[in-house]
Amino acid sequence: MKKQLLGFLACIGAFALNAQQTPTWSADIACIVYSHCTSCHNPNGIGPFSLNSYDDAYGYRYALQGATTSRYMPPWPPDPSFNSLAHERLLSDDEIALIDAWVNGGAPRGNASEEPDPPQINSPAEISSPTWTGAIPAYTVPAISNDLYRCFVIPTNFTTDKFITGFEVLPGNREIVHHVLVFQDTTNQALILDANDPGPGYSSFGGVGIQDAKLLGGWVPGASAKFTPNNMGIKLPKNAKIILQIHYPQGSTGQVDSTRLNLLLSNGPMRNLSIEAALNHITSLTNGPLYIPANTTKTFHSQYTIPVGVTVLGIGPHAHLICESMRSFAVLPNGDTLNLINIPHWDFHWQGFYDFRQPLFLPAGTVLHGYATYNNTASNPNNPNSPPQAVFLGEATTDEMMLCYFTYTFHFPSDENIVIDDSDHPDHYLDCTTSTVITSNEEAIELQAIRMYPNPASDELTIEYDGAGQAIFELYDMLGRPVASVKVSDNQQSINTAQLTKGMYYAAIKTNGRLVQVGKVVIQE
Ligand code: HEC
Repeated sequence: MKKQLLGFLACIGAFALNAQQTPTWSADIACIVYSHCTSCHNPNGIGPFSLNSYDDAYGYRYALQGATTSRYMPPWPPDPSFNSLAHERLLSDDEIALIDAWVNGGAPRGNASEEPDPPQINSPAEISSPTWTGAIPAYTVPAISNDLYRCFVIPTNFTTDKFITGFEVLPGNREIVHHVLVFQDTTNQALILDANDPGPGYSSFGGVGIQDAKLLGGWVPGASAKFTPNNMGIKLPKNAKIILQIHYPQGSTGQVDSTRLNLLLSNGPMRNLSIEAALNHITSLTNGPLYIPANTTKTFHSQYTIPVGVTVLGIGPHAHLICESMRSFAVLPNGDTLNLINIPHWDFHWQGFYDFRQPLFLPAGTVLHGYATYNNTASNPNNPNSPPQAVFLGEATTDEMMLCYFTYTFHFPSDENIVIDDSDHPDHYLDCTTSTVITSNEEAIELQAIRMYPNPASDELTIEYDGAGQAIFELYDMLGRPVASVKVSDNQQSINTAQLTKGMYYAAIKTNGRLVQVGKVVIQE
């Protein structure tokens, strides 16, 4: 990440575009190409040709011009005008204009002695001293005529729960590893699936074939290591198995891969970051079921009301092949709309997990919305069926899904001040100032539904709750760990708090297993 930032800063000098002068490779273009293109366009990269020298770039100058002025390259599926996300792989208007003027001016080299060095391709791991590292066995891709999605299981054998604070996928063979999804499995199912499939790993397309497997993150070409903010981590239960699902595209036959995962782990305690598909094809479709008849185009809507104030750090939309577009936004309790992500041209091969530039505060009552359009006609070049066939919900290549994962944690005051990416991108406009206004709003909603007294409390806390039905009252400490749980009868219940460590706690009311409200309570001497 630091390296990218340096590259970016180093390019700023080139922005003083003098209209009279033709830009040169040495002074203007090399820096742009080396910082935005060469990570994929190198001899071992996923890009179809190398952009690692003046000669390379000169040879492809018209392609370069076309791909950048059309904004086809670098690949960045989210629409930056909908929401500007962290670490956007985008060229600025100035950079595109420079490339355009350079090609139109004959693509001169300029003074070669001023040229920056091409980037080091086999860049070392960003996590150089991982707490845990695991690699798949050397795997030779068998004879395939189609894309292969292979899942590899790596046991962790930890005897205590851990928290992931750093995450880095190192593809073993960059020519054939197209993307990687990383899951955790706390059952034995992954090992069973592995045992039932000859050779290392097992094949599975959409998910990893295990209902309860949890997504931990992913990798697409050009992605760098991810680190969680201070004191937050993704829980990795003891004995969890790590599953790497690797996509090897057509043409990988006979090649060998040994992809590795590096993790930074903490024993905690720390705030737990959860990754959940809050918007999904099972519980949140308003016009489901997810079924797209042959020769039709259909848009589905999903919706979910957030029961408790959360801090959201990232978002990961997921669908399969015939999906054409996907977008998500949030409507806050005060009526404001917060754009989250828009993928106008969905491409299964470029699905990423995206971070927001700063965490978002979504108060209780915020409604998440998702829209996805599926084109199941012959006009869709990605349609796996010719002629088109009815498509249902499922994990196979020919099935579809509609998920939107969110990385979140219970909201703490000022979480939204954390900075994930503050690079001065020209399109950077994400406005987090609304969050401060909403804070007071949230308190008002909470206080209506739960009354806790006295607050601060010392030996005993009484809870009154207005809602209907049997409710469970739970207390969590500031790290999100449950410390007490009681049934609330007759909408009122007292609990003994004498044994609790003094400090602030979150109080939650659940009915029918759903979290309906939270508040804060202080336990003192
Ligand atoms: C994240 C990886 C990645 C980055 C970064 C990237 N490319 Fe590409 N590029 C690809 C891949 C993969 C293809 C081939 C598949 C495709 O066309 O989508 C490609 C194709 C191309 C093509 C051929 C397009 C065509 O019409 O077929 C050009 C030209 C190109 N890239 C130029 C660039 C330039 C210039 C940059 C930097 C400004 C860049 N790329 C950055 C991955 C990348």
